[in-house]
Amino acid sequence: MVRIILIGYMGAGKTTIGKALARELGLQFYDLDWYIESRRRKTVSQIFAERGEEGFRQIEHNMLHEVAEFEDVIISCGGGTPCFFDNIDYMNGQAQVVYLRCEPETLRGHLLMGKTERPLLKGKSPDELLEFITEQLEKREPYYTKARYTLDVTLMDNYEKIKITVEKLRELLGV
Ligand code: S3P
Repeated sequence: MVRIILIGYMGAGKTTIGKALARELGLQFYDLDWYIESRRRKTVSQIFAERGEEGFRQIEHNMLHEVAEFEDVIISCGGGTPCFFDNIDYMNGQAQVVYLRCEPETLRGHLLMGKTERPLLKGKSPDELLEFITEQLEKREPYYTKARYTLDVTLMDNYEKIKITVEKLRELLGV
């Protein structure tokens, strides 16, 4: 049975890498945010607007306990998932957890290009965004680095590099 969980900051490429890895290994792919949205029939932004971050984190925690029971899956989590409740310890007990590490400048680049709506980043200028990422990443790293594996994905920004990252991940995990 294979169960792999990808964690890391917003914009690190958890979903892109997770999908590509799942395709290669012939496994099911779950993105925790998408799972929450389909179970709740609401977008993440709507949940934040209606229940605040605290309400979202409770739902996220509950849904994590659903998806992390599935077998032969690759799961990508939200950037905040490992940093609330005992989520990171629970994940480590359930799966091979990989932290996709990425530098703030690169994260900002990916986030400025991306189309996903992210309530925590709304309305920030590029300068404010870099400052916010740098500060928040520092607070979150103690949680992220509890993952059993870490893979640096700072240089992953085109298709070839995604392929290389997937290869590295397979080597790291022995899958
Ligand atoms: C969040 C990351 C988002 C989403 C929510 C909060 C965070 O997921 O769960 O907007 O706190 O870092 P992605 O990392 O997939 O963008």
